[in-house]
Amino acid sequence: MNRILAIANQKGGVGKTCTAVNLSASLGELGKKVLLIDMDPQGNSSSSFGVNKNEVENTIYEVMLEECTLSEAIIKDVAKNVSLVPANVNLGAVEIEMAGKDKANLILRRELDFVKDEYDYIFIDCPPAISLTTVNSMAAATGVIVPVQCEYLALEGLGQVIETINLVRSRMNPTLDLTGILFTMYDGRTVLSNDVVDSVRNTVKYHTFEAKIPRNIRLSEAPSFEQPITVYDPKCSGAIAYMNLAKEVDSMLADKQ
Ligand SMILES: Nc1ncnc2c1ncn2[C@@H]1O[C@H](COP(=O)(O)OP(=O)(O)OP(=O)(O)O)[C@@H](O)[C@H]1O
Ligand SMILES: [Mg+2]
Repeated sequence: MNRILAIANQKGGVGKTCTAVNLSASLGELGKKVLLIDMDPQGNSSSSFGVNKNEVENTIYEVMLEECTLSEAIIKDVAKNVSLVPANVNLGAVEIEMAGKDKANLILRRELDFVKDEYDYIFIDCPPAISLTTVNSMAAATGVIVPVQCEYLALEGLGQVIETINLVRSRMNPTLDLTGILFTMYDGRTVLSNDVVDSVRNTVKYHTFEAKIPRNIRLSEAPSFEQPITVYDPKCSGAIAYMNLAKEVDSMLADKQ
């Protein structure tokens, strides 16, 4: 098992949650067993699957405070082959509550050790910040997927997330990999989208995924119907792109083992 992937970029609204939800669901459709951990107090991954995040007993917050185990917080079958650990606004307080706690950065990693063999893929949807929860996620992960929105200033945020990955690698997780940069909200008709892709590919030495996620209205509608795109509209361009990404990720990581 070599596939615990944090989905991270401290820039807000770049498609982290959309990717966490729909990449998980697409791999589930391909018959892979997937666990998605919502690590964002906004709880958007949880609500995208229709989980009532304010009513659940155990969330990732309780896990981080060691009030329950990770397996006690897992909600099974939110989609085909997909399980979820929810989050809600309480998670925002975790930074303060865990301040000064020894090994705070390694709690998730330890908890994942108990469950990781049950899944083919574990994804962690990170918040838009370099916070303790983001560092915790990267400390627990084998790789990071970095969504980059095809818009002006996209490169600015990218440098910062790469720096964070390097820091976590040197301090606590020497084998952490930048699995790939994912272009989101791509519109091939615009010069801007193509400029972003070219400048990222020319500037950074890291892998960029072949699959690009188009700007697609169906992807933005699906969360309000509490469905992943594989259920809401499996034939739309966004669904096809996430399915292509799922296949690409799967063949890429299979090659690595
Ligand atoms: N490819 C896409 N096409 C159209 N809309 C998209 C696409 N990807 C994401 N969106 C929409 O853009 C908004 C931001 O996306 P998302 O929530 O996935 O970003 P995020 O990086 O997780 O944000 P945050 O940093 O707040 O957690 C959402 O309303 C989402 O539905
Ligand atoms: Mg999000």
